[in-house]
Amino acid sequence: MTREIGTAAEIGTAAEIGTAAEIGTAAEIGTAAAGEPGRTAAEIGTAVVGYGYWGPNLARNVAECPGLALRALCDADPARLEVFAQRHPEARAVSNLDQLLADPEIEAVILATPPQTHHALARRVLETGRHVLVEKPLATCLSDAHELAHIARQSERLLMPGHTFVYSPAVNAVRELIQSGVVGDVHFITSARMNLGKYHANGVLCDLAPHDLSILLHWLGEPVVEVAASGSSVLRVGVPETAFITLAFAGGQTANVQISWLAPRKVRQMIVVGSQRMVVYDDTASDEPVRIYDRGMDVLPPEPANFGEHQLIYRTGDVLIPRVEPQEPLRLELEDFAHAIRTGEEPRSNLALGLEIVAIVEVAEASLREGGTPLALAPLVDRAAA
Ligand SMILES: NC(=O)c1ccc[n+]([C@@H]2O[C@H](COP(=O)([O-])OP(=O)(O)OC[C@H]3O[C@@H](n4cnc5c(N)ncnc54)[C@H](O)[C@@H]3O)[C@@H](O)[C@H]2O)c1
Repeated sequence: MTREIGTAAEIGTAAEIGTAAEIGTAAEIGTAAAGEPGRTAAEIGTAVVGYGYWGPNLARNVAECPGLALRALCDADPARLEVFAQRHPEARAVSNLDQLLADPEIEAVILATPPQTHHALARRVLETGRHVLVEKPLATCLSDAHELAHIARQSERLLMPGHTFVYSPAVNAVRELIQSGVVGDVHFITSARMNLGKYHANGVLCDLAPHDLSILLHWLGEPVVEVAASGSSVLRVGVPETAFITLAFAGGQTANVQISWLAPRKVRQMIVVGSQRMVVYDDTASDEPVRIYDRGMDVLPPEPANFGEHQLIYRTGDVLIPRVEPQEPLRLELEDFAHAIRTGEEPRSNLALGLEIVAIVEVAEASLREGGTPLALAPLVDRAAA
């Protein structure tokens, strides 16, 4: 069974994702503040909620993104509001969501608050008829994520999870190598994402695994059918800072993901081993993030009559470093958000991807509690009906 997570046609180039020229006319916009200095009628009044570690990146990109206008920021912490007000004097700074939602010119809200707040905040935003981009993960459990999806469908508003890595030019370069057959049949993928990380009460699975999962699902276009996770808690019982996840995909590929907040050196490396080539994606090597190893091993003849006929031949070839245009993934994500609101088209980081990731993290957490037992994932369609 193969289910499309995001088709090749959705992927496109930065230019296809949504440019200022595609954003539409004032008539299509409804409440956009056409008369306000510095804003055009085509801009979507946008607010960011949460100005901790990640919120400043979102606010800066909203302010710079054609199609979006940064109208307000909400944070419960007055000190963070002050920092925001100094950087963005053009926008309002408010301390609670109700003040934000009272402004009719805010059409879209971006949530950059801790994961355990996503469900309640996104629900309130959707219920007032706004579009919402929820930072990863969409929610901390599948039932909450499904409830949000249901409200979004009913209110015909966009609910978009913020899986930034699917907009990374390097990630998309590797996807192209896989999907075009350069890699050959994917035998396995490993991923290591480690750092001295920021401690979150939800644990490392909820914090870091969505990144690896979004990339793997985007690359393979196959659903995960089985998950096993083990991990350890050093600093606080019940909050794993390190986890090792093994995933089996419907197409037969396997992946192993290592995530940790305890490693002193930043590691963000993914290796794809295929029947034709191996690809290494190193997100810390900003100038040369992708390397293709044209090496491998073949068995001759392909289907021997008996074991004695097996012969292995080794191929040795070049190591190629393709050119990858540097572009800020978050900027591309926000352009896609604006484009999806304007046109009704699915964003690349779409709801199906967000739901799939919440489901996998939930099963991984269950496996970890059970000491690493491999657990099957029901097909998404059955889970939605449950
Ligand atoms: N896409 C990415 O690459 C990426 C990277 C980092 C973090 N994130 C995600 O961004 C989100 C925020 O992470 P962070 O590390 O910035 O967290 P953080 O704890 O540093 O910041 C959260 C901010 O939200 C504020 N806040 C909390 N509850 C609030 C509420 N109810 N109303 C208003 N403000 C509230 C806090 O005062 C704080 O300033 C998380 O979902 C995280 O997973 C995504």
